Amino acid sequence: MLFRDEKQRLGLLGLHCSHRGADLSFGRLEDGGLRCLYHGWLYDTGGRCLEQPGEPPESQYKEKIHHKAYPCQEAGNIIFTYMGPGDPPILPAYEILNVPEEHRFVCKVWSDCNYLQGNEGNIDPVHLSFLHSIFDENLAGAGRPTPYRTVRGSEASPNQLFGDNMAPTIDVEETDFGLRISTCRGVGQDKGYLRVSNFVMPNLSAVPGETQGAGYLSNWHVPIDDERHWKYMIVFSREAPLDKEKFRRRYAAEIDANYRPVRNPTNRYLQDRAEMKNKTFAGMGLFFAEHDLFATESMGPIRDRTQEHLGQTDKAIIAARRLLLKMIRNMQQDGEPLHVIRDPGANRFPHLVVLSEVIPQSMDWRSYWKTKVRE
Ligand code: FES
Ligand SMILES: [Fe+2]
Repeated sequence: MLFRDEKQRLGLLGLHCSHRGADLSFGRLEDGGLRCLYHGWLYDTGGRCLEQPGEPPESQYKEKIHHKAYPCQEAGNIIFTYMGPGDPPILPAYEILNVPEEHRFVCKVWSDCNYLQGNEGNIDPVHLSFLHSIFDENLAGAGRPTPYRTVRGSEASPNQLFGDNMAPTIDVEETDFGLRISTCRGVGQDKGYLRVSNFVMPNLSAVPGETQGAGYLSNWHVPIDDERHWKYMIVFSREAPLDKEKFRRRYAAEIDANYRPVRNPTNRYLQDRAEMKNKTFAGMGLFFAEHDLFATESMGPIRDRTQEHLGQTDKAIIAARRLLLKMIRNMQQDGEPLHVIRDPGANRFPHLVVLSEVIPQSMDWRSYWKTKVRE
């Protein structure tokens, strides 16, 4: 259970009291800690037992109690904790966590599938031509509160560009944080639609979102157990404050007060067959996160990968799975996985760049990408 003590310090403690197991989340916040309702044991944020008021006054028994506690750190309107062995590594200095609060919008949604399955939706750039496709450009275009923006220097929205070329050239390269995934689509005379997204080890991604050009969207998939996870969605703009009210309204229409998706398997994601005729490919409205939930949850809580048939379009998925397997082997041999930061000098990510732009098709995507590295 997570709490703030009277001095606003964060504590993340094991849920059940070390005494006889009552649920500490019902406890009283007082006297420098959290007091269990059952017999009044008092814990501080570090899990030390400060008082056992029912024990004899001379008893030192409380010194023997080491209640489970995890260190917490707050950044970007999110509370992080470290549950691994040894000292916590450094929290990565991602732009999403470091821009001013008014420049960022954070929300989460419950996901009924394994966290990796959820994140693979971000690593797969090909589904954008299908699952999220919107036939009616008036719905997809500017002037509507949708996740689309007109690509700079081009008349077409990403929605049209994804539709114009459904079989892109995908390039994947390993970086110090995970994978950089580029997708190039020829979309007319010497025009290439370049999209660069990133798989960030081990459970997040940085992809174009509605602040594209000025920022991006990160989806952070945090396991609850093997078959369920929270998806944190973090949008930011480095250039200007966001209209958070607009974001809130839009998210509230799709995600309820308990962070459960309005469209879910029990109502078949409210799929509308009439909408599929001329409005959207999926018939599930305009909110991408709901489309993605459909795709990743409908595979089952953990997809049996031996039953899949991966094609060329799955290049990035294959690379991500290989990287994760390699890191698991590293850990089994007492190594550390990629992107565990211990050196403050290495905690910089100017090369974590997200792009969604039309460039000359003859131009090598890497030379364009290089101009966008924010040194
Ligand atoms: S169960 Fe918590 S003090 Fe007894
Ligand atoms: Fe998606």
